[in-house]
Amino acid sequence: MSDLQLDSQGRLRHFLTVEGLSREWLLKIMDTAESFGSVTYQKVKKVPLLRGKTVVNLFFETSTRTRTTFELAAKRLSADVLNLNVQVSATAKGESLLDTIRNLEAMSVDMFVVRHPDSGAAHFIARHVAPEVCVINAGDGRHAHPTQALLDVFTIRRHKPDFASLKVAIVGDILHSRVARSQIHALKTLGVPEIRVVAPRTLLPKAVESLGVVPYCELEAGIEGVDVILMLRLQKERMQGAFIPSEHEYYRSFGLTSARLARAKPDCLVMHPGPINRGVEIASEVADGVHSVILEQVSHGIAVRMAVMALVMGRAG
Ligand code: CP
Repeated sequence: MSDLQLDSQGRLRHFLTVEGLSREWLLKIMDTAESFGSVTYQKVKKVPLLRGKTVVNLFFETSTRTRTTFELAAKRLSADVLNLNVQVSATAKGESLLDTIRNLEAMSVDMFVVRHPDSGAAHFIARHVAPEVCVINAGDGRHAHPTQALLDVFTIRRHKPDFASLKVAIVGDILHSRVARSQIHALKTLGVPEIRVVAPRTLLPKAVESLGVVPYCELEAGIEGVDVILMLRLQKERMQGAFIPSEHEYYRSFGLTSARLARAKPDCLVMHPGPINRGVEIASEVADGVHSVILEQVSHGIAVRMAVMALVMGRAG
């Protein structure tokens, strides 16, 4: 995987997964994102790094945060941006993914940002594009959501910079979550010593310990004394069959309420990649409360995605 992602000189050629990326690379992306943070507050919210480049947002799955922040990131880097509406594109007439890519490449695009329901779709595209075209994975099936993980660790670092002292709990539908997989790789690579995954047994992957995490099947115990809680929604679109008795039951046992949050450290951060489901995995009092950095995550998504785009195009670092 890293062979596809890094070129023979060790430069970031595509951004497909956190797995296999070094700590130095994760720090470089975060440091580059820090340098882009101020662009949002400039009078003219633009830098010319990708002027003359064309970015195609190719989203085969729904998205609010990822698609719009990639679009804003590309525009703030001065790229031209094309958002392909898959519902009204030739995909709806049976055109293959590869034929769609070939046709867009014929328009001299420089970068594809890809979200797809199939695990491995971004890697597949990266294997087939022309040598000068870059691919960024914006979420593929259950596999990976690397820019989400990067913006999550970027947000954590803003509040709690010493990763080596952190206890982090990832709570919710771990089984179907590409976000959890990428977060675990990022947190481990950055040296977080204790990563817990908290979920009903039915929503934990088999042998999850092999990922270097500690499983908990009870929320109160799972968040006891932690510094950061990363909440996940139930990914019903990827569930085949019943994994929980009902959403009501799930909330009763795994919903993050203020009373339960009191078990964590007093300055615990509450995070969520979104979309949040109030009253299913999280209470409004927590989602909108003082511990929540959920909207900060969204804002940081722009700077982190600017960093990734600039780095794969060789325009930063
Ligand atoms: N976090 C995330 O991927 O949200 P969207 O599905 O809205 O892009």
